[in-house]
Amino acid sequence: MSNYEVNGRLYSAEPKPGQCLRTFLRDLEVFGVKKGCDAGDCGACTVWLDGKPFHSCLVPAFRGHGRKITTIEGLAKNGELHPIQKAFHDAQAFQCGYCAAGMMMTIASAAFDEAHKADLPHALKGNICRCTGYRSIVDALHGKSNIEEDVAGKACGASLPNPFTDAILTGKARYTMDIAIEGLLHLKVLRSPHAHARIKSIDKTKALAIPGVVAVYTWEDVPRRLYSTALHEDHLVDPDDTYMLDNVARFVGQRLAAVVAESEAAAEAGVRALVVDYEILPAVFDPVAAMEPGAPLLHDKSEVVTQNRNIFCTLQGEIGDVAQGFKEADAVHEMTYSTSRVQHVHLETHGSIAYKGDDGRWHVRTSSQGPFPSRAKLAHLMGVPAREIHVFTERVGGGFGGKQEMVSEDLPLFATMKLDGRPVKWEWAREEEFIGATTRHQMTTKVKIGAKKDGTLTALDVHCVSNTGAYGNHASETLAAAMGSPIAAYRCANKKGVGHVVYTNMIPGGGFRGYGASQTMYAMECAIDELARLLSIDPVEMRRKNVVRPGDNVESIWKEPGDASFGSHGIDECLDIVERELKKGNGVAKPDGEEWAEGTGVALAMLECGPPTEHRSGADMRLLADGTYHLACGSSEMGQGIATAHKQIAASIVGVRALDVDIINADTDRTPYDTGTFASTGTVVAGKAVHITAQAMRDDILDFACRHTGVVIDQCRLDNDAVVCGNKRITLTELHAAGAKVNHRFAVSRRAYLSPRTIAFNVQGVRLAVHRVTGEVRILHSVHAADIGRPINPMQCYGQIDGAVAMGFGWALIENMVHDEGHMVNPQLRNCRVPAFADTPHTDVFFAGTIDSIGPLGAKSQGECAINAVAPAVANALANATGVRFPHLPFTPDRLFSKLGKVK
Ligand code: FES
Ligand code: FES
Repeated sequence: MSNYEVNGRLYSAEPKPGQCLRTFLRDLEVFGVKKGCDAGDCGACTVWLDGKPFHSCLVPAFRGHGRKITTIEGLAKNGELHPIQKAFHDAQAFQCGYCAAGMMMTIASAAFDEAHKADLPHALKGNICRCTGYRSIVDALHGKSNIEEDVAGKACGASLPNPFTDAILTGKARYTMDIAIEGLLHLKVLRSPHAHARIKSIDKTKALAIPGVVAVYTWEDVPRRLYSTALHEDHLVDPDDTYMLDNVARFVGQRLAAVVAESEAAAEAGVRALVVDYEILPAVFDPVAAMEPGAPLLHDKSEVVTQNRNIFCTLQGEIGDVAQGFKEADAVHEMTYSTSRVQHVHLETHGSIAYKGDDGRWHVRTSSQGPFPSRAKLAHLMGVPAREIHVFTERVGGGFGGKQEMVSEDLPLFATMKLDGRPVKWEWAREEEFIGATTRHQMTTKVKIGAKKDGTLTALDVHCVSNTGAYGNHASETLAAAMGSPIAAYRCANKKGVGHVVYTNMIPGGGFRGYGASQTMYAMECAIDELARLLSIDPVEMRRKNVVRPGDNVESIWKEPGDASFGSHGIDECLDIVERELKKGNGVAKPDGEEWAEGTGVALAMLECGPPTEHRSGADMRLLADGTYHLACGSSEMGQGIATAHKQIAASIVGVRALDVDIINADTDRTPYDTGTFASTGTVVAGKAVHITAQAMRDDILDFACRHTGVVIDQCRLDNDAVVCGNKRITLTELHAAGAKVNHRFAVSRRAYLSPRTIAFNVQGVRLAVHRVTGEVRILHSVHAADIGRPINPMQCYGQIDGAVAMGFGWALIENMVHDEGHMVNPQLRNCRVPAFADTPHTDVFFAGTIDSIGPLGAKSQGECAINAVAPAVANALANATGVRFPHLPFTPDRLFSKLGKVK
C-alpha cells in the first residue's frame, strides 16, 4: 500500500492498474472531484498536484503518490471559504453547480495569475459550464456580488442565493453518483455498432467467464414489455415502441445487452467479450426518404402503430383561406429552413443506482426531471406495484430536457431485482450521451408567407418534417409545439400547416429546452425578416405590426380554441429595449479589414407557458416546532433554481425569510406528486402549487391563532416568526406547542393544475461581423429582452437567460453533431464544439416590466423560451451583413464559406 496525501489527510491505498487520479480519488470517497467527460475537455475533475491544477481524468493515479493532492474539499481553511469560493458565493457563479468545483480549482490556483485573469478565453479553455453562459463566473472573477439580503416577507423578487450554495462550493453537495455503497455492482451496456440490424444471437460465454462478471442480460432475459422512454404522465402521448433490450437495433448506439460486474473494468471487459451475430438490415437516415414507398421500415412489429409506414404522426390544419390569402398578398416569401441535432450536454451524465432497502422495497437514486413518471414506467416494466418502488433525486447536475427521459433507471433496477437486491450502479460515459441518449429533433421547415404592402400578413403556410430517429419519444409533442407557438405568434387570418414526424435509423430525438418550437421559430423568424426585406419594411416594425396582442385569438392552424391567454403582454417593451440597445451600441467595433462584413439582426420568440396537456404539481408545507417551515415539492431541482424560487414564494406568503423555509424536492416517498419538471412548469405549475399551499398554511395559522387567543381573525396577522392577534404577540414556536396539545399539526397540502396557460415573449438582438474569406463569425453585441412576468429571483432569471442564450449561440454557430450513415463521428465535447468560455459572447439581458395575472405571484415562464430567438437573430444578422440567406443550422465557417462570394 502507498500513502497518498489528499487535502492534508493520508490515505493508504493502491491504485488499480491503469487507474486515473479522478476515479482513484472518488474511490477514496472524495466526491467533490466530478466527471463530465473523462477526456480532458470539461475540467469538472480539476484538482491540484502540489498546487498546480490538472485534469485528474488525464493523470495516472500513481503520479499522485508523494505529492500534495488538493481537491475542492481542501480549498476552504479553518471553516473559512477560500476567496474564490467566497467570490463564487457572492456572484452565484453556478447553476447546477456540477462544474463549479473544477472551475474554482482552476481559478484559485497560484498558476491563475493576473495575466490569466486578463485573458479568460484562454485561461478557462479547459473548463466547460453548460448552465451559466459564463457571465456569472466573470462576475465572480471581478468580485461582483449578485445577491441581496433575505428580508422577512420580502423574499419574492429578491436575488437570494441558492440554499445549497455552501455545499456546492465546498464539494459537500451530493450528486447522483456521489455515494459509497457497500457491495456495489457496476453495469455497462453493449451498444449497437449498426444503424439497423437484427440480432441472431448473443453469446455470453466469454463475458461470463471474466472474473468479476456477475450477470449478462440480453433481450431474452428482460421483460418483453413495450414502453416509451419519454417522461409524460399520459403515456398515450408517446408511442410504446421501445423494449428494455431488443433483438433489433434501430440506431447506432442503441443498448443491446447489459453486463453486471463487481467493478467497472470487469463490466467493460464483459461487454467487449460479448459475441453478437447480426443480420444487417437496410437503413434509412433521411426522413423524406423514409416516407417514400419501399423505404426500410423501422417498426414493423404489429404492436407499434404508425399512421403510414415510417410516419409516426401527422398534424395538420387550416384557419381561414390560405389560397385566398396568398392572392391578396403583395409580396410572398418561400424558403426551406432546417435545424440541426444538438445534444443537451448536462455536465452530469445520466446515471442511476438501484438497490433493495431495509423496508423490502426497491429504491432508485437517479438524475431525473421526473421521478414520478419514472416510477410509473418502472412499475409497468418490472410488473410490480408502483408503491414497491421509490425513485428519488439527490442534486441533479443539469437537465435541459435530456432527463425528461427514463433511460438509466430500468436496467439497474432490473439487475438488482435479479441479484437479491445487491445495489447496482449505471453511470453513463460522455460518449454514450452523444450516441445513446436523445437530441433536439432535427426538423426541416418550409415556410410560405405573404403580406400586403403595408406589412399586414395575409397568409402563412408551414410544412414541417421532424426526424424522430429510431424511437418516437416526445415525437408528437415536439411536433405539436413546433406547429403551435411559432405560428400563433403572428396575427394572420389565413394559416395552414402540416407536420410529419418520421422514424429513421438515427439517434432518437427527445425533449430539449424550447421543445420543438425552437426549430420552427427559427424558420418563422427568418421568413418574417425576408418578407420585411421584400417589402422594404424595418424588420422590427414588421414584428410590431403583426405580433399577437391581447384581444386576438391566439391560434395556430387549428380552429379549436386553446387555453393560451395573455396574463400579461410585454413584447412591445422587449422590441423597444432591443431596438434601443442596438441603436445605442456597445462600442465594440467591427474588426479592421474589408473582408469583415457587419450586420444586425433581431428575432422574437413566443411561448405558451407549460405543455398543452396534463400537468399537475403538489406541495406540502408544515410549521415545525422551532417556528420554521418545511416545504416538500415533487418538482426536480436541476440547476434551474426552482428550489430557491419555491422557498421564496412560500416565504413571501407566510412573511418569513427564505432561510426559514426548508425544502425537499423530487422524491416519490417524501414529496407530493409532480408530473415532471419540464416545459417551464417548475414556475407556472409547481410554483402555483407552492403559492396556494403557503396561502393555506397562512390561513391555517391565522385560524388557529384566532381560536387560541379569542381575537377575531381580522385582527390576526403573521409577523415574521410570530402571529400578532390584537395586542398579543405569540411566537410560532409557542403556537406550534399550543397546537400540539390539541393535536393540531399545522400541515397543509395543495395541488395545482395547468390551465389556462399564460404567454411569454423573448426578443434577441445581435450585431455581428462575418469574415468573407474564412467564414468566421464574431458576435459584437448581443442584447436580450425577456417578458417573463415578475422575476421571482432576478439574479437566477438573468442566469437562466444567460445560459439559454449561450446555448442558442452554440446551436447557431458551432455545435455540430456530425453523422455518417447514423454513426456520430465526433462524440466528444471538444469535437462536437460544446461552447467554452471563448465561444460564448456576453449578452446584455433586460426584463420587460410585466406582472402576470395568471402565473404565481405575477411570474411566468422564466428560463426556457430565451433560446428560441437566438439562432434566427444570428441568421438575420448574417443575412443583413452579407445579403445572403443561410437557411441551415449551424452556421459553421465551411457552410458560410461556400456562399460568401456574394458578400456585399
Ligand atoms: S472529466 Fe476530466 S476533463 Fe472532463
Ligand atoms: S453550473 Fe456549470 S455546468 Fe451546471
